[in-house]
Amino acid sequence: MEAPPDPTDRLGRPILVASNRGPVSFHLDERGQVTGTRGAGGLVTALTGVLQRAGGLWIAAAMSDGDRLQASRGPGGRIEARIEGSTYRLRYLDIAPDRFDRYYNVISNRILWFCHHYLWDAPRSPRFSEATAAAWEDYVAVNDAFARALAREGTGGPGAPAHLVQDYHLALVPRLLRERRRTALIAHFTHTPWADPGYFRILPRAMRTEILRGMLGADVLGFHDDRWAERFLLSCRELPEARIDLEAGTVETGGRSVHVGVYPIAIDADALLARASRPDVRAIRRELQRERGDGRLVVRVDRMELSKNVLRGFLAFEAYVRRSVRRRGRVRFLALLNPSRREIPEYRAYTRECIRVADRINEEMGEDGWTPIEMVIGDDFPRAVAAYSEYDALVVNPVIDGMNLVAMEGPVLNRRNGVLILSEGAGAHSILGDHAISVNPFDVAETADALERALSMPEAERRSRASALRRTIRSRTPEAWIRAQLADLEAAGRARRAG
Ligand code: G6P
Repeated sequence: MEAPPDPTDRLGRPILVASNRGPVSFHLDERGQVTGTRGAGGLVTALTGVLQRAGGLWIAAAMSDGDRLQASRGPGGRIEARIEGSTYRLRYLDIAPDRFDRYYNVISNRILWFCHHYLWDAPRSPRFSEATAAAWEDYVAVNDAFARALAREGTGGPGAPAHLVQDYHLALVPRLLRERRRTALIAHFTHTPWADPGYFRILPRAMRTEILRGMLGADVLGFHDDRWAERFLLSCRELPEARIDLEAGTVETGGRSVHVGVYPIAIDADALLARASRPDVRAIRRELQRERGDGRLVVRVDRMELSKNVLRGFLAFEAYVRRSVRRRGRVRFLALLNPSRREIPEYRAYTRECIRVADRINEEMGEDGWTPIEMVIGDDFPRAVAAYSEYDALVVNPVIDGMNLVAMEGPVLNRRNGVLILSEGAGAHSILGDHAISVNPFDVAETADALERALSMPEAERRSRASALRRTIRSRTPEAWIRAQLADLEAAGRARRAG
């Protein structure tokens, strides 16, 4: 059968990707040898594929000593790495550690991430100070370094590259690049949600207007969900020079038109299924089956992250078990949590609080041979993949989430017609909500009800929901996600040339 035409093959232009975290992390072992591992997730999959076909380069920040060492070896910081059959052409920017800390930890992850995920505790935080303003300078400088690196790689004219800039770390890059290359084709994608305009206005005035103006340097701005795109457009109302068309999804500014589009990312289901069939995963599955016996298994898989709502998930589980003595000893909650952003005090405090609550519940309710909650903090992808296959209910209850790929990975691998409990606040809810049990992430009682419903659902309903989830998830691909953006970027370029 002939392969369907692929617009990226006809693109006739290389791709330049810019993201804070690169697709490959390099680690130094004790003997001083460097090994590279490829990041998981839809973004890396989608962009790896398109970069292999169209040619180009991925620019990222060096995040580890291994990244820095590897970058220092290649000419101009360039690295070529061959991993799992793909060749990566990378350039890792070596940013001074202090500057990187302020750009990444202070501004990106403690301010912008907190803002878009509603993580502040308003009576106490945030408190913007002179130190914030100084850290903002570093954020601007790092964004400028990325824009400079992109401009150096790209040329103008026909065959000029398409620039794909990723996420809130690099919000200023589109404009800083546009100032250097007036006719460049630039797309920026936001992988987080976008805060509603009122909450967004918590940010210092200069910061928020520079972010909006920075992003509006692009031709195309992508979001995972209609809600985030719409809130971005509404936030732009505070710019006097911008004309917003909510229906069309456009912002006119400085004589240019910026297209604001919705492109929900997908997962590579076949690669995940292949991973699940490997012996390491199969061994853990057998272990989980033995532990479960004829009881029930509730699972969550997340980064150890404030927005994921781990704490309310535990409290909901506690409430569910307390409703009936028959549940004691019969159901277990396995929470696999990958450590994240441990430099940030709020993350450390939240982790401690989650551990305390899980310990308290286990202490009060546990019995010989039954630990109600098993919380595993560590980076163990094979265990996560095995747990996906074995859950009876999967809890995905983030306060808010740009997309959430756990809600897609679990149902693709699950073998027990397990039920997905999904927060309305996840971007994934717009795609999968009809086949999941929806929860308001703040409502612990409703989440306990959802567990009750999931774990007592008749087999026929479980089966039909599980197969609808699989069908929906498998009908979408990471390639289509990127193709749609590239097609809109080409259209924007044509319109600009015609105008
Ligand atoms: C989210 C962000 C990504 C980020 C990832 C992991 O998905 O949208 O940009 O890379 O979290 O966070 P980290 O800070 O470890 O890169």
